[in-house]
Amino acid sequence: MQTINNISLKPYHSFACKETASHFSIITSEHEIEEVAKWSKINQQPLLILGSGSNILFTKKYEGIVAKMELMGIKKLNETASEVLLEVGAGENWHYFVSYCVQKGWGGIENLSLIPGTVGASPIQNIGAYGVEVKDTIKSISAYDTFNETWVNFNNNECEFGYRTSIFKNSKNRYIISKVHFILQKQPNLKTDYGVIREVLHDRNIKNPSLVDISNAIIQIRTEKLPDPKKIGNAGSFFKNPIIPIAQFEQLKNEFPALIAYPTSDTSYKLAAGWLIEACGWKGIQKGNVGCYEKQALVIVSYGAISGKEIFDFSELIIQSVKNKFGITLEREVNIL
Ligand code: EPU
Repeated sequence: MQTINNISLKPYHSFACKETASHFSIITSEHEIEEVAKWSKINQQPLLILGSGSNILFTKKYEGIVAKMELMGIKKLNETASEVLLEVGAGENWHYFVSYCVQKGWGGIENLSLIPGTVGASPIQNIGAYGVEVKDTIKSISAYDTFNETWVNFNNNECEFGYRTSIFKNSKNRYIISKVHFILQKQPNLKTDYGVIREVLHDRNIKNPSLVDISNAIIQIRTEKLPDPKKIGNAGSFFKNPIIPIAQFEQLKNEFPALIAYPTSDTSYKLAAGWLIEACGWKGIQKGNVGCYEKQALVIVSYGAISGKEIFDFSELIIQSVKNKFGITLEREVNIL
């Protein structure tokens, strides 16, 4: 295992700020996972595993070791008449993996096309878009338990998946995911309920969509609505959509009839945070080198911000104004360090 000292993290995260890490390493095998975990213990330096850095904001120097996950490989472990079981290395690019499956005709993750990030990061915050969450296709996960220094296999139930969360997110850096096992469908049940998907298919005059059609529609929708992190610094949705009790929802809906919300259970509603932020007048607003994206208010963009702190401070202003107007405290979806 090789380490580099005092490295700039700019090329390794999508906000591309100037923050540095005291140590840096690259992981390409399960053996190197064990090595980096040991190194971190022996040297008493915290360890941070980084995928492609598309959901993280560094606000200061990382005093510890950042290890970039580059464990690769897509392997078919089993195939039946209806399903395939795949084992995928944590370092594989998420969209590359989605495209690979779409081309093979294996369905289940096509609605998650073009989400930035790696396969190993996908279960941590249970990525989701257009009516699909990654948890619906995950069979199990192999991870290294840095506390007990053993390998653990989590089946789907044991991952404790929820909206943008899992055991891996909640147990902060205890587990290092090496491989994710997916079950995908050979006769997939396509999810086209999301209005905007239907609109794109209709515009393209597609009546019986294939996996490729759905994936292309999602790519079009995302490209039109979300900034490309290669061109403009961002980490997708900066905040989570807040989930509130039904009584609070009804009160807000009375006061703000245009409020956008979806029931999540018999007792709770999920509010569209993008709408709340837009209603506070933030959409398209720029302060210094940071802004609220003009086409989707849930996304904070960097126009060349040098420090992550500048971006964090901007997000704090948004949280404050949503709190003042609606009495709702937005939670950040992006990991803040
Ligand atoms: N809306 C506004 N103003 C805005 C943004 C949204 O009024 O500036 C309204 C929209 O008109 C719509 C509703 O809010 O009625 C929901 O908007 P959208 O469909 O764009 O989805 P979202 O709830 O804002 C979530 C995910 C996205 C995912 C989309 C599509 C979270 C935190 N975000 O956004 O995920 O792509 O749904 O399924 O759940 C990400 O996590 O980085 C991400 C981009």
